[in-house]
Amino acid sequence: MRRRRVTVAAGFCFSFFMGTLLNLLFIPGFDHHQQREQQQQNGVTRSLLDPSLDLQEETPGSALDLARQLRERYEEVMRYRENRASGSAAKRLVRPLERRLMDLAQWASSEHLHKEQQQRGDLANALPKSRIDLALRAPWLGCRDIGNVTDLRYLGSGYTKAVYKVVLNGSVAVALKSVDFGGHDIENCVKRFGAVEDCYRLASYKLVKEMILLQRLQHPNILQLYGYCYQDSNDISDTLTTIMELGAPLEMIQLLQTSWEDRFRICLSLVRLLHYLAHSPLGSITLLDFRPRQFVIVDGELKVTDMDDASIEEASCSRNSDCFMEFPARNFTLLCSVEGRCQNMNEKRNLYNAYRFFFTYLLPHSAPSSLRPMLDVIVNATGELRWGIDETFAQLERVLYLYKSGLYLQNASHAHKAEYRRVPDTSIVEENYKCWPSYHHKGCLLSVFDLREAIEVCESHSQCKAFVWTNQTTWTGRQLVFFKMDSSRVVPAPDKITYVKVTG
Ligand SMILES: Nc1ncnc2c1ncn2[C@@H]1O[C@H](COP(=O)(O)OP(=O)(O)O)[C@@H](O)[C@H]1O
Ligand SMILES: *[C@@H]1O[C@H](CO)[C@@H](O)[C@H](O)[C@H]1NC(C)=O
Ligand SMILES: *[C@@H]1O[C@H](CO)[C@@H](O)[C@H](O)[C@H]1NC(C)=O
Ligand SMILES: *[C@@H]1O[C@H](CO)[C@@H](O)[C@H](O)[C@H]1NC(C)=O
Ligand SMILES: *[C@@H]1O[C@H](CO)[C@@H](O)[C@H](O)[C@H]1NC(C)=O
Ligand SMILES: *[C@@H]1O[C@H](CO)[C@@H](O)[C@H](O)[C@H]1NC(C)=O
Ligand SMILES: *[C@@H]1O[C@H](CO)[C@@H](O)[C@H](O)[C@H]1NC(C)=O
Ligand SMILES: [Mg+2]
Repeated sequence: MRRRRVTVAAGFCFSFFMGTLLNLLFIPGFDHHQQREQQQQNGVTRSLLDPSLDLQEETPGSALDLARQLRERYEEVMRYRENRASGSAAKRLVRPLERRLMDLAQWASSEHLHKEQQQRGDLANALPKSRIDLALRAPWLGCRDIGNVTDLRYLGSGYTKAVYKVVLNGSVAVALKSVDFGGHDIENCVKRFGAVEDCYRLASYKLVKEMILLQRLQHPNILQLYGYCYQDSNDISDTLTTIMELGAPLEMIQLLQTSWEDRFRICLSLVRLLHYLAHSPLGSITLLDFRPRQFVIVDGELKVTDMDDASIEEASCSRNSDCFMEFPARNFTLLCSVEGRCQNMNEKRNLYNAYRFFFTYLLPHSAPSSLRPMLDVIVNATGELRWGIDETFAQLERVLYLYKSGLYLQNASHAHKAEYRRVPDTSIVEENYKCWPSYHHKGCLLSVFDLREAIEVCESHSQCKAFVWTNQTTWTGRQLVFFKMDSSRVVPAPDKITYVKVTG
């Protein structure tokens, strides 16, 4: 057919190559064993584990086995697409007309399911569709848009997918995701079943699932899906490439070195995301694989990218002990509701993972001292799972409010020892000293709420002899101020104000 295979085919080859290269250079990498352990450590009960994890068994697999897994995953994908969300929660959020339409759709799809079950005998032989299309909002991107890309750059890969940055039309930078032919998912499957095309299909349903979720879930902290492209590649028909918003892979080490304000922003984005996921149109969604590498940073905000391990199934139970969540440092047993569901398990799993991967590292350290008690309470309450997401969300938004409004400064001491002389339209270029955590790698550039706070900061640094009020602000609207160790060389500079310490 008239499908093109230009650059993305090159991308596939490159990713194949990269995967192979990684295998050569980077063992032990991330094998299936580790993924299973990881998922258990993420508080995932066995019943929720991906059926593909059967792949890990040592015995060589039969074709029937692979066909069953393909069908199971296909059906899962169709469930997400058709919105058979088990959802009284989902229904409560929609207006009456939409609700009636949803009921109709559900009725239709259950009819469909019924028919499917009758035909199950025949279907055991038939393979599910290789191509699943979505109705995306215009203007969406497709094969024509990625036929001529420039600046292809490898961004990262995980167990299943490889991600590249490309520039479209010489102007727009986006991320392209595809199944990694050199990745562990395909490799392990081929080792067991020896069927590259079917193994590709099995892995590609994860990408399809992610694509559907990215389309249906709309939130500032979920990466935007721009489009997708099916084309023939590596001798396989209908290979899928998704086109999405570009981010920067999350580097925890780097985050630990940034200001509290920026680290707080990451935690706040995460909590806003989890709040949305707990009340999503599909029901309460949990991210089974929650490690930091499943998220990226876009303009300082955290956004989730890897959605193929998301689940809307709340674990069923007959007693509380069925609602057991195991983590490396801590286990929890949740309540089993009268409806036979583990209460808020999806939400609580997300929240505990947020606590252990993000909050403990990012939230309390070098926070303004008056906010510290509140932050300690938040960290403790999420670490003990005492709060749900709604309470956590409200508390973080309250911290944001106190910080932005300057109310957190109310209890600070007003005893200033020194006077400062205001010199408008001037700056001090050199005379930098280092402080931590600074917005500038050479000088001491910090954000302040007002002049009073700037003076307090200068008073607390023994080197500080002056500071320069810039015209730049941070994401919360706070002013960026350069602190300086000498004030003898003040030079003209529009839009800046120098404050020179004169007494004390
Ligand atoms: N939109 C994006 N922008 C930048 N980097 C991304 C993007 N999506 C994913 N990545 C990077 O690629 C890696 C692999 O993507 P992911 O979807 O997590 O694949 P897998 O399912 O194999 O884990 C991620 O860990 C992340 O660092
Ligand atoms: C790229 O340019 C083509 C032709 O000018 C246009 O049809 C297409 O929409 C553009 N794509 C993007 C992503 O801007
Ligand atoms: C591809 O894009 C570049 C600029 O980004 C343009 O110069 C070139 O003509 C395009 N080629 C095709 C075949 O569209
Ligand atoms: C959690 O439960 C597992 C399995 O029952 C047990 O082996 C482990 O010691 C428990 N961990 C903690 C920290 O209680
Ligand atoms: C929470 O606080 C209590 C009481 O100080 C303490 O015993 C517990 O270890 C803390 N839990 C976490 C997860 O920080
Ligand atoms: C400031 O002090 C008052 C009274 O001691 C207290 O109620 C309030 O919570 C404090 N504010 C902050 C932001 O710590
Ligand atoms: C800050 O000042 C510089 C230099 O005068 C100017 O170019 C820039 O636009 C200003 N930025 C803002 C946010 O006002
Ligand atoms: Mg991943």
